[in-house]
Amino acid sequence: MNKDDPQITSPMIIAHRGSSKESPENTLSAFQLAISQGADGIEGDFHLTKDKQVVCIHDSNTARVANTKLIVKNSTLAELKKLDVGYWFNSTFKNEKIPTLNEVLEILPSDKKLFLEIKSDPDIVPYLLSILIDSKINLNQLVIISFNSRILRTIKQQKPELKTLFLVSLKTFNRIKLSNFLVKKLLNKLEDISADGISTSISNFLNETYIHQFISKGYEYHLWTIDNEKIAEQFIKIGVNSITTNTPKIIKQIKYFQ
Ligand code: G3P
Ligand code: CA
Repeated sequence: MNKDDPQITSPMIIAHRGSSKESPENTLSAFQLAISQGADGIEGDFHLTKDKQVVCIHDSNTARVANTKLIVKNSTLAELKKLDVGYWFNSTFKNEKIPTLNEVLEILPSDKKLFLEIKSDPDIVPYLLSILIDSKINLNQLVIISFNSRILRTIKQQKPELKTLFLVSLKTFNRIKLSNFLVKKLLNKLEDISADGISTSISNFLNETYIHQFISKGYEYHLWTIDNEKIAEQFIKIGVNSITTNTPKIIKQIKYFQ
């Protein structure tokens, strides 16, 4: 609850790929920086390796963040661990390695969330679940997110305690297309896969009426990616559950969090 306006519940501020404006995305440095800046949680992208390890990297190959192109699903953890995924961002991050899911869980403080995005094929699910269960992490700290509704359905069937959010990009929708028809379609999808909510990109056409159609049906509404304080304030007033940002330091400075 916000002290200035008790009607407003402050959303969680989630660091997109860690504090990725100031450090190399999806690295332990980026996650630790976000936590030190007061983010309520971190968001990371996960893939399955050839030897069935779960690793944190956005793309399906390493070309953008390392000087060698390896396809993640065709490479072993040992091969991936040889790569430097920090130098491309800034030489001070030289020798940063691709983290495993376990390494990310190990640095997650008990009062912080991990928004765990599954980027790979559905065959990751059993490996991912067994890591989460063996890690003894409090399942309340985890939010499983994916653009793949089949993956979310399977996760919910196998581990109903895990919170799941269906990711939807609104980029291609204009005012007409972002219509009640789409809301209805998405509500049906959330029900079908037993998701706890939806997480959408921001859009010029996204407004309170639209968001409240989900909230009034009992679903959570989360948003990505907002780095601008004014835009963040606008959606805090609407009452979204979380805002994912590349710059948690800046968003945490706005008045609702002071
Ligand atoms: O939080 C959802 C968001 O991370 C999805 O987009 O491409 O950054 O993984 P992307
Ligand atoms: Ca992501």
